[in-house]
Amino acid sequence: MSWLLTLLGFMVAASATAPHSLVQERWQRLPLGAIRPKGWLLTQMTLQSKALTSHLPLFWPNIANTSWLGGFADVDGGIHENTPYWLNGAVPLAVQVEDEELMKTVEQYFEGIFTRQGSDGWLGPDTDRSDFWSRIPFMLALAQYHESLPEGHQRSRCASVAHRFFTAVGQRLEEGVQLGSWSSMRAHDLIWSIHYFAALLPANSSFAHWLLDLAKRLHEAAFQWNEQWFNSSAFATAPVILDSLKTHGVNNAQAVKHGVVWARQSGEVQQGFAESWLAWSQLQRFHGQPHGAFSADEHLAGTNPSRGTELCAVVEAMWSLLLTAQLAPNDRSAVKPLDALEVLAYNALPGSLSEDLWSHPYLQLANSYQALSHEVDHVWTHDGPDSAMYGLAPNYPCCTSNFHQGYPKFAANLFFESPETKEIISALWAPSLARFSHLGAQIELKTDYPFNAGVEYWIQNEEPFQLTIRLPPFLRDDPSAAASLRVTLEGRTVNRTVVDGFLRVQVTSKAERPRLAVRLDFALEPRVSRSSEGSTVHVGPLLMALDLAEERKEVRRHAFEAADWDTFTRKSWQVALPETPRFGDVRHRSFDLPPLPHDAARCPLALEAELVGVRWPAEHQAPAAPPEALVPGQAARSNRSLG
Ligand SMILES: *[C@@H]1O[C@H](CO)[C@@H](O)[C@H](O)[C@H]1NC(C)=O
Ligand SMILES: *[C@@H]1O[C@H](CO)[C@@H](O)[C@H](O)[C@H]1NC(C)=O
Ligand SMILES: *[C@@H]1O[C@H](CO)[C@@H](O)[C@H](O)[C@H]1NC(C)=O
Ligand SMILES: *[C@@H]1O[C@H](CO)[C@@H](O)[C@H](O)[C@H]1NC(C)=O
Ligand SMILES: *[C@@H]1O[C@H](CO)[C@@H](O)[C@H](O)[C@H]1NC(C)=O
Repeated sequence: MSWLLTLLGFMVAASATAPHSLVQERWQRLPLGAIRPKGWLLTQMTLQSKALTSHLPLFWPNIANTSWLGGFADVDGGIHENTPYWLNGAVPLAVQVEDEELMKTVEQYFEGIFTRQGSDGWLGPDTDRSDFWSRIPFMLALAQYHESLPEGHQRSRCASVAHRFFTAVGQRLEEGVQLGSWSSMRAHDLIWSIHYFAALLPANSSFAHWLLDLAKRLHEAAFQWNEQWFNSSAFATAPVILDSLKTHGVNNAQAVKHGVVWARQSGEVQQGFAESWLAWSQLQRFHGQPHGAFSADEHLAGTNPSRGTELCAVVEAMWSLLLTAQLAPNDRSAVKPLDALEVLAYNALPGSLSEDLWSHPYLQLANSYQALSHEVDHVWTHDGPDSAMYGLAPNYPCCTSNFHQGYPKFAANLFFESPETKEIISALWAPSLARFSHLGAQIELKTDYPFNAGVEYWIQNEEPFQLTIRLPPFLRDDPSAAASLRVTLEGRTVNRTVVDGFLRVQVTSKAERPRLAVRLDFALEPRVSRSSEGSTVHVGPLLMALDLAEERKEVRRHAFEAADWDTFTRKSWQVALPETPRFGDVRHRSFDLPPLPHDAARCPLALEAELVGVRWPAEHQAPAAPPEALVPGQAARSNRSLG
């Protein structure tokens, strides 16, 4: 039966068109607020809302004295991106953790920005007529705010602010204003928001047609990422020396969505997905890193795990991959960006944030053994000497204001629904509670995944539906993990055949109260993979890191808990896995207490591994390329902790 449903799903996606001839999304996003984080994810997001997200407006000039509200700050480089970046994350965070204080602050920013909207409709400080870019993250924030509001005055006001702004964009294009540099590279985030607001209008409205025409003009004026970069001989297949906007990491991360976003309007859904997936594949093949992101220590930097990745590139790649999955032509395609996104969400994102969410390094380096301020001799090429330091705003301020979207957008997209096929899609596992208005269902996903095995779906439903569950790659590809999988439906063991990456469970009974309807159990065992760049150990989706006994020293205090830190390590990093790896048991630790700042010993999952000391030099204060042969160093075999 499942192939039939898949086929039907595909036919609906290919033939049905939403009003204004935008292709209907195959999977519908739930409106912001319909999915709530629970368990560890709620702990993490609450920690974030109480840390920098709610404090930046109190002390950081880029938000506190922003030019968006008439202040002197948020003007670096002649652009005004910090306040919009912050709102793009603060909106979904405040809504999902129901932080009323933060929501009140966010609404004050919207109010101030709305009342300053120009008579022509332009939004924000207007210091450079070709700077469309600074408004783009604002429109993403506005779309999410709109989505979270009930029908009423404020919701209509958001739509009318957006429509007036788009009129101003059209007017500038007609006057011959060219897209500025960032605007041209990042135009498809703006096109996404035009599509969002156009879809609210009646099908036959002439303004909706005008908006789609505006999107087309922007698409044509923008940089053509597929032809001119990802699918061209110009694409960088080695660390970049001569940099340009095309080689810029965050531009590349944002550009992954170029294909799928435009496909909603061109109707070429297969081609659009092929372009987006090719973009990600190229970035992974030539610049991929073990934490799931690609290296870009400002510009693309190859596969050497000592090279850096900017935090903004991680959160932007996550948002691009979400859209790539949602807008994919079929399940077989959708599973790939979801796999990539899961690795980022569980490795690269937390790997670039301090445990207490008050500081971050601008660059994370998979193979780093220190994170220092003023590192003059460094391995990265285009960024400054503070880039690896954990701090308030090391190197550039962008990540300080942009990291906020990481967890909230991840949480908002754990589930999708497809009313036409009566299907609920469980795209990613994390503890959460989701309400599906079209299907009259509610699902609580009870789990400690990825820190523990097992997921439970507690379901309350008015009608039967198909629960389409993506299985993470280790449960599909690793034979012993796959063999450990048990699936039970209403207490009975059921078929666990995986097709196109998804398990399909028919929930045929109904219940007015939540019951444990579907349960998956499986084993979490360490897995080793080896490549020319070295060996990695994973447990489930988690990349294990060697405990180096970190020690932090405060360099500078800013305000509240915000400070800059030097991080040193006390244990040797010059170790390797022996030919035959030996591990102790996977140890699970309690999450009853929130994470403490800078305490690696509190990580929720750990194991012991037998390691061999090797001769492995450092270059520019970073591990050189891993030694080809294991030449034993002074330290012989020892058991060390990974977590
Ligand atoms: C914001 O600007 C006002 C007026 O110039 C100043 O008094 C205040 O200290 C500034 N706040 C921050 C956080 O920069
Ligand atoms: C659009 O369609 C609605 C209902 O189908 C109709 O009432 C309205 O007059 C139409 N408007 C235009 C501008 O054609
Ligand atoms: C990339 O270019 C090749 C050769 O022109 C073409 O066959 C392929 O379809 C293109 N891929 C995408 C995703 O456009
Ligand atoms: C399980 O499902 C698959 C595909 O849907 C089917 O091929 C297989 O025969 C089923 N196995 C059992 C034991 O029902
Ligand atoms: C590491 O631990 C394993 C399992 O506890 C043990 O068998 C092994 O001898 C230990 N190796 C070393 C070098 O201590």
